[in-house]
Amino acid sequence: MPTTPIPQSLGLPKIGHMLGLTIDPMAVMQRLHRQFPHIVEVAVPPHTFFVVTNPTLIEEVLVTKQKHFHKDGFLKHHASALFGNGLLSSDGDFWLRQRRMAQPAFHRQRITEYSEIISAKTAETLAALPHNQPIDILATMMELTLTIVAETLFGVITPRQLITIGQALQQSMDYFTNDPLRDIAASITRLPLHDAKNAAYATAIQALDTVINEIITERIAQPRESTDLLGMFLSARDDDDQPMSRSQLRDECKTLFLAGHETTALTLTWSIWLLLRHPDCVRTLQAELTQVIGDRLPTMADMPNLVYTEQVIREAMRLYPPAYTIARSCIADVTIGDYAIPAGKDVTLSQYAMHRDPRWYDQPDAFIPSRWSEEFKAQLPKYAYFPFGGGPRLCIGQQFALVEATLILAMVMRHGDWQLLPWQRVVPAPAITLRPKRGVMVQIHDRA
Ligand code: HEM
Repeated sequence: MPTTPIPQSLGLPKIGHMLGLTIDPMAVMQRLHRQFPHIVEVAVPPHTFFVVTNPTLIEEVLVTKQKHFHKDGFLKHHASALFGNGLLSSDGDFWLRQRRMAQPAFHRQRITEYSEIISAKTAETLAALPHNQPIDILATMMELTLTIVAETLFGVITPRQLITIGQALQQSMDYFTNDPLRDIAASITRLPLHDAKNAAYATAIQALDTVINEIITERIAQPRESTDLLGMFLSARDDDDQPMSRSQLRDECKTLFLAGHETTALTLTWSIWLLLRHPDCVRTLQAELTQVIGDRLPTMADMPNLVYTEQVIREAMRLYPPAYTIARSCIADVTIGDYAIPAGKDVTLSQYAMHRDPRWYDQPDAFIPSRWSEEFKAQLPKYAYFPFGGGPRLCIGQQFALVEATLILAMVMRHGDWQLLPWQRVVPAPAITLRPKRGVMVQIHDRA
């Protein structure tokens, strides 16, 4: 079948789009979406990769032709110390077996059980926050969601272990945050400007591996009747009746700690920041919370009635998708639409650019939670909004994350009158996830 040539965007001579993608990758992706409505080949010499800018073609990559695509080299090689061969980065039959093993921990019944832990931990966190003093809400949400994932998926672990994991994950993520000036200076001067950064990363990974090994050793030494995820991984046997290897166990635990807390904390942080900049939205939200939950703790049963709360979260994930890009490597020649993708090429999908694309969203940069009416959702092309990815590699924690974000946001906004500290500039920093560079500073005032 004849194929349509893929348009190219070559950028500057010799460096292609390298500078733009280093300094402001989100702006480059948005520009490509506006110029090329389907797909474009982008140059970063000596390589090129494809950016898919059309929801129907994205569906082919993630769903209908997903067998032709594997996870990309970044996760497998660049970030391999962090994710190893865990669920996020593995592929093929091996991934499928691990995914099936983990799936029961995310069933609805389990999430209902987790929701009680979520409310209890949130109540404890909120009660301990000082009033009338600056609070970094990003740090607060990171700590809370880490505690929740530790307790729900791994059983209770000690406060020291939790602090070590939190710090090591934070340092590892810092490693992947762009520092364009340093990167450019290092490549021009060839000075070892990254040495300190590399050393800090290696130390963080070592601390993480040590504490996770310790958690696994303790659990093996003191087996208990437990249906949490770690217990399930420990009792799993392959076709030859062999248990999961120690290094595989460690990779799965690291992956779930990271994937299971950072993205939800970011969703909450962006939601709170956006809300506090829109007092009218806070009023609408408060009216819903007063009516649905009043002064009691919210539960899973309230979820269908927390319609506006859910719209706030959905809109925050549209504007600031914590997982802002998905990459795949094509493993066998394939056509998507009528474009030929050769084996060996990388393909990038940008949630950030798609979610702000004026083809699908009016006032694409504005925070308008009420846009998410049932009619709007019904007419939106499926992959014009994909904060959790799609197809077989859809986020395993999607339901968990949505319940957690909804319950926590409801409790936070019932807790007091929150205000943003006025002097700050909140800047999105694209690393592995999309986080506010210096956090978000807020203050709680006693409710009048
Ligand atoms: C708002 C919160 C979250 C967002 C936005 C998010 C986003 C994503 C996305 C986009 C993917 C697909 C990546 C790809 O296709 O390359 C993914 C995969 C994954 N997520 Fe999440 N996630 C969230 C919360 C969670 C939670 C709470 C957990 C676990 C407790 C989790 C665990 C995972 C795992 C293990 C995978 C890999 C699944 C597989 O490939 O089988 N995520 N997530």
